[in-house]
Amino acid sequence: MLVLQGQEPEVPAGNVVLDLLAGARLVWTGPATAEQTHREVERQAEKVRQDGGIPHVIPHGGSNSYAAQAYVDCSGELLAQLPGLDHVIVAFGSGATMAGLVAGLGAERVIGIDTGAVADPCARLNELLDGMRDVRVRHSDLQLDDSQVGAGYAAVTPAAREAMRLAARTEGIFLDPTYTARALAGLIARVAGGRIGRKDRTVFMHTGGLPDCSVIRTSAPDCSLRPRAAGPLGRW
Ligand SMILES: Cc1ncc(COP(=O)(O)O)c(C=O)c1O
Repeated sequence: MLVLQGQEPEVPAGNVVLDLLAGARLVWTGPATAEQTHREVERQAEKVRQDGGIPHVIPHGGSNSYAAQAYVDCSGELLAQLPGLDHVIVAFGSGATMAGLVAGLGAERVIGIDTGAVADPCARLNELLDGMRDVRVRHSDLQLDDSQVGAGYAAVTPAAREAMRLAARTEGIFLDPTYTARALAGLIARVAGGRIGRKDRTVFMHTGGLPDCSVIRTSAPDCSLRPRAAGPLGRW
C-alpha cells in the first residue's frame, strides 16, 4: 500500500503507472503537509493491524538508516572500481542515498545536490547518519548544495533542462527532471566554477527516475519536451 500526497490524477502517469502495474493499493491524501501524510500512514497501518495484518511502515522516500546501508554497499563497489575517486555527485531527496555514500566514502568525497524534497535536508542527513552504526562523520564536513532547488521540488529548472539535454545529446544518457537532472546541473555548475577540476576523479551517480520523464509535459507545461522554436532541435 502506498500513501501518496496530492489528488489522484485523472490519467495515471510516470511512477503511478508503475505502482499500479506492481499491484500497489494507492491512498491519496489530497493537499497535505508531511506531518499530515505521516499521520495518514499511521492510520492505514492501524487499519491493517485491525484486519489482522502486520504492517511494516516504510518512511517517506524509503529513507531510514537501515535503507541507507544499501548505499554503503554501493560505496564499496565504487571504491573497488575507482579506488582513488575524489567526488561523487548525487541527488538529495529524502536523504538515504547520500547518507549511505557519506558513511561509505566519507563526507569530503560526497556532494549532495538538494532537490527541495524536504524542508531541512541538513537535519535529515544528520539524523540518518546518527542512526547508522559505526559512522563517524564531522557534520561540518557534509556537502549539501541547495543551488539547484530553483522554484521548488516540482519545478523543472532551466539548469536541469539544460543538463537533461546535454546528457542525452552527448552521452545518450537520459535523466529525470527532478533528481538526476538537478544533480548533473550541480556538477556542471561546480566544473564551471572551478570547484571540480578536469583531473579530479568524479563520479556522477545516476540514480534512475526515468518514469518521471513521462510526466514532464503535464507537470510543467513551460518545459515541454516538444521543440518550441522553429529549427531541427528547437528549445530542447
Ligand atoms: C531518481 C531518484 N534519484 C534520487 C533520489 C533521492 O534519493 P534519496 O531520497 O535517498 O535522497 C530519488 C528519490 O526518490 C529518486 O527517485
